[in-house]
Amino acid sequence: MTTSMNVGTGEWKMAVKNREYKTGEGKAGLKNIPFQKRLEPHLDELKWLYMELYDNQQMFEGLCSGMEEFCRARRASLKRLDTKREKNPGWFRKSSMLGMMMYTDQFAGTLTGVKEKLDYIESCNVNYLHLMPLLDTPRGRSDGGYAVSDFRKVRDGLGTMDDLRALADECHKRGISLCLDFVMNHTSEEHEWAKRARAGEREYRDRYFFYDSYDVPRQYEQTVPQVFPATAPGNFTYLPEAGSYVMTSFYPYQWDLNYRNPAVFNEMMYNFLYLANCGMDVIRIDAVPYIWKELGTDCRNLPQVHTIVRMMRMIGEIVCPGVLLLGEVVMEPEKVAPYFGTVEKPECHMLYNVTTMATLWHSVAARDARLLKHQMKAISRLPDTCLFLNYLRCHDDIGWGLDYPLLESWGMKQVPHKKYLNDFFTGKIPESFSRGELYNEDPVTGDARFCGTTASMCGVERAGFEMDDAGMDHGIGRILCLHGFLFFLSGIPVLYSGDEIGQVNDYTYKDNPEKAADSRYIHRGRFHWELTGCIKDGGSVQGRIFSGLKQMEELRRGEPLFGADARFSVRETWDDSVLCLVREQEQGKLVGIFNFHDYERIAWIDETDGMYQDMMTGEMLRASAVRVDGHGFRWLKRAEAGS
Ligand code: GLC
Repeated sequence: MTTSMNVGTGEWKMAVKNREYKTGEGKAGLKNIPFQKRLEPHLDELKWLYMELYDNQQMFEGLCSGMEEFCRARRASLKRLDTKREKNPGWFRKSSMLGMMMYTDQFAGTLTGVKEKLDYIESCNVNYLHLMPLLDTPRGRSDGGYAVSDFRKVRDGLGTMDDLRALADECHKRGISLCLDFVMNHTSEEHEWAKRARAGEREYRDRYFFYDSYDVPRQYEQTVPQVFPATAPGNFTYLPEAGSYVMTSFYPYQWDLNYRNPAVFNEMMYNFLYLANCGMDVIRIDAVPYIWKELGTDCRNLPQVHTIVRMMRMIGEIVCPGVLLLGEVVMEPEKVAPYFGTVEKPECHMLYNVTTMATLWHSVAARDARLLKHQMKAISRLPDTCLFLNYLRCHDDIGWGLDYPLLESWGMKQVPHKKYLNDFFTGKIPESFSRGELYNEDPVTGDARFCGTTASMCGVERAGFEMDDAGMDHGIGRILCLHGFLFFLSGIPVLYSGDEIGQVNDYTYKDNPEKAADSRYIHRGRFHWELTGCIKDGGSVQGRIFSGLKQMEELRRGEPLFGADARFSVRETWDDSVLCLVREQEQGKLVGIFNFHDYERIAWIDETDGMYQDMMTGEMLRASAVRVDGHGFRWLKRAEAGS
């Protein structure tokens, strides 16, 4: 974080103490006491950071005034939740938290449809629901909803803002938290600001990066990498009607916002608070590392990004302290953890555990858990205030952002290894059990990412087509083992809708010209409600997966040792394909063993502190030289003395 001179926050603090700060609109003396009380401890730092970026007193006053308005407008039920959560700030760190992410339309057609399906969601033990982008977005130029044309309107066909509020209320009644994306790096080209910018209005052009010639864009292109090298090459788009270039790091219809402009920052903060006031509990800040641009840099993770996220955290704590920030930082591990900020100056409450996810799939393909062990050690060293959102699959592709220097020291060189992973998961290697497709294969570097559902990647699709019962057993075993690992980690495990019933890839996106070019739609298919009819049939694929997950979910929920406060460490197993993790607290200890090999292996551990019980089977055993089935796992709990 950068530093700067003090900018006269003393007077401000006095004014706040007297509850007389200016609102920027001449409304002196607004007396919103809870707001003032929450603003006061943050005021110095917030103003300091704001002035450092913008040096604009009037805009800062405008921001405070806007925040106060949102605080005032917050519904009483949400304020009650705020107070409850302020009293219990670790409310989201409990072992009972379980998430699911889904597309409203694919799951239940509309927001009201989702509300009607909450019983099913609850039957999956889910109490955190991430609804994929659902705000207004142009058809066909939408990036799955990540090109927002109105931050305050639900997309036609999904319902209304009132439906969203009603869903949030019903979720809150059932103890379910709702998460929504806040796509803050860019707007759609159809957003009101973009339309006015295109029409030549200076004020709105200044909210984006507009250039009349290619000179500056050319300079940026020299240092800025490409997000979608195949589907949307380059970082700028020429607008013939405006005779200008506009910065578009993602798709050409997603115009990057210029956060150097305080109007952009203030307005986007109001949009964030608007969504919070609709009842969202978690705001996923999309593509956040990209929000600050600087010539001569890669325009990723710049210090100003952290300043903005820190300000956002404070703004949230002041206006809606029950709301959490979830950072989407799909970057190498050393870039991710800084988005937690520090204990004194926290940024995000939660981050995606992206490296663990990618490393896990590498372990599946390579039957080698060494890198995962290394990754788990790195995670165990982080302060336990860092809470990860853990997942196997999400709506995006898997990029092979692995620790290549370490892999290379074991003989796995980056280019051939990535090719191996992609060949393995697309099923090009004859013995591969996985099915799926490449994503954004870069014609220049040969690099590619991967798309597919958990079930398809674990072998269920192939075994189903080939009517291979043994292959199906292995596929289901892998799915359960990977979830066994996922649920063993600290943090919030998030299921990808459909995974709980083993849904395979959906190739129908190829028939839709609006989707055909983007292979991520292979794992964004319609939810197959007809398959849920089988979940009670213990012999069906769906029943085996659903009941296996349910057993783990319920064990996890009832066991405080799975909570984020337990100490987490890694044990040596003396077998490269077997991972052993330990969770402990004064009152007990859990040992998790995960076998990435196809055959039975022995975890050469030796925990000599008593007998253990396998939580899944009830078997009593010593935690020494433990046998684990091929792609099997064990959750062992130390038996109480005398039991
Ligand atoms: C995030 C989303 C991804 C989207 C991108 C641009 O990375 O997860 O789906 O394409 O942001 O908004």
